[in-house]
Amino acid sequence: MSKTTISHIEKLKAQDEKFSCLTAYDATFAQVISDAGVDVILVGDSLGNVIQGQETTVPVTLEDMEYHIACVANGVAAAERQCLIIGDMPYMTYNTPEEAYATARSIMQAGANMVKFEGGSWLLDTIRGLTERGVAVCAHLGLTPQSVDALGGFKVQGRDQKTAQTMIADAKALEQAGARMLVLECVPSELAAQITQAVSMPVMGIGAGVDVDGQVLVLHDMLGISPFQAKFVRNFMADANGNIQAAVELYHNEVKEMNFPAQEHSFE
Ligand code: KIV
Repeated sequence: MSKTTISHIEKLKAQDEKFSCLTAYDATFAQVISDAGVDVILVGDSLGNVIQGQETTVPVTLEDMEYHIACVANGVAAAERQCLIIGDMPYMTYNTPEEAYATARSIMQAGANMVKFEGGSWLLDTIRGLTERGVAVCAHLGLTPQSVDALGGFKVQGRDQKTAQTMIADAKALEQAGARMLVLECVPSELAAQITQAVSMPVMGIGAGVDVDGQVLVLHDMLGISPFQAKFVRNFMADANGNIQAAVELYHNEVKEMNFPAQEHSFE
């Protein structure tokens, strides 16, 4: 039995090796994903979309997250190879550092190894405080689904010079405050590559091209069972003759070998 740690993911970046991440929300899939060799599981608030059938992640509650993180932690604990588990902080549960500490306690006690939340420079004090208290933080820039209405829809972010420069500055500031990992969602490949070079923390992309340190996809999307397939998604189940275990293993190998994402899954 081996457990993937944050230091291990950091070491992969230092060695220029890619890492893989998938979302999971229950014990059975968590065990399958873990045993397939995937490095990280994200218990994402995307559960609002794929588990609850909501249009956005906004309705997801802290209780929802605690329940699904606990289920995933049980599945990972039963696996031979154990993924690192990241737990999302839901909408409006980290408005102040104090509120974020209470939310982080719930997420970590449910079984996560690291917490993730969405946003840039307004979170610096929160990240500093969590880091001082021994909580590892994954930041999330680009398309931040909890702000989808303010962003005017699910759109690629950082296309113009000004927003691109802000994103680069935010990424550096988040790292300086203590963030140990970064998710970049729906960001032009060139910008994602630039950010990945500019920071030492591992950067995982979703719709951010191949030149980041790792990839993350929503499980239901890569299995081809979500009703809508975004440009950045590949249906690995179709490429694995309908076998779930094989689809997850194929995803992991394709990420490691930089065959996924291809140009057709990326934004220029
Ligand atoms: O909630 C989620 O699944 C996420 C990923 C899309 C990165 O944040």
